[in-house]
Amino acid sequence: MRHLMNPMDFSVEELNRLFDLARDIEQHPEAYAHKCEGKKLATCFYEPSTRTRLSFETAMLNLGGSVIGFSDAASSSASKGESVSDTIRVISCFADICAMRHPKEGAPMVAASRSSIPVINAGDGGHQHPTQTLTDLLTIRALKGRLDHFTIGLCGDLKFGRTVHSLVNALARYADIHFIFISPEELRIPGYLREKLQENNLSFEEEIRLEDVLPKLDLLYMTRVQRERFFNEEDYVRLKDFYILNKEKMELAKEDMLVLHPLPRVNEISVEVDDDPRAVYFKQVQYGVYVRMALILTLLELA
Ligand code: NCD
Repeated sequence: MRHLMNPMDFSVEELNRLFDLARDIEQHPEAYAHKCEGKKLATCFYEPSTRTRLSFETAMLNLGGSVIGFSDAASSSASKGESVSDTIRVISCFADICAMRHPKEGAPMVAASRSSIPVINAGDGGHQHPTQTLTDLLTIRALKGRLDHFTIGLCGDLKFGRTVHSLVNALARYADIHFIFISPEELRIPGYLREKLQENNLSFEEEIRLEDVLPKLDLLYMTRVQRERFFNEEDYVRLKDFYILNKEKMELAKEDMLVLHPLPRVNEISVEVDDDPRAVYFKQVQYGVYVRMALILTLLELA
């Protein structure tokens, strides 16, 4: 039985197969509409979510399966002191697969070690968010036709942004990727990630000003400042509007640069950018459903 904790749990070949399946689902949804009949997905969300939870639920419903779960730790037995290990043993009796989001780094991994059903990490604290990465990679592959030979700028909260950590891990396996990390001093990528890039001789630079690097980018991955992971509100308020991508800045970018964002967006992209054909963050959401459908089928060995 397989779980998904980190995008690295899948080899590049396995990811290719998953993305091919997602594209086939996009083109022939009717062929997949009954694949999960009689199966249940449990969504166990101990942290807020709109997209990820509803995307998982839509994915399972599109496959003909059904969904159970909770979207708030306060309404689960966690509020009575139940451990994640006990909860997953209970959920294993109800459902065939589980997507779990938790504020503590590693909690879905603990659950997976006790589970008799596949567990998918739907975001663990500031650590990893593998299904957002699958979404990001599928979007890039679908719109650019490849996952190699890119200069990608990752901008915003690179310290706490788990989607950034997962995406960097995953993209580092493809040829000729140059990373430009754009953040204020306080929100730079974690040391472990920098060391990993250095050890593997990967090409990266760290910058503060978005304007200086925009013309070089093939892809720009914007992120919000992760308010819930700050220790004090003052620092958040000081940093929250550090970057605002607007029409004027977009003029500095290449004509075929793509702007991605895992969403939710706060102020870091002005709404005036939404109509720019290079802004693909709402398309990403749709690809997220296809890739989660492909993932559920793969983990349930129904692909
Ligand atoms: C992201 C997350 O939860 O980490 N959201 C998402 O799942 N698309 C990004 C964020 O919350 O900023």
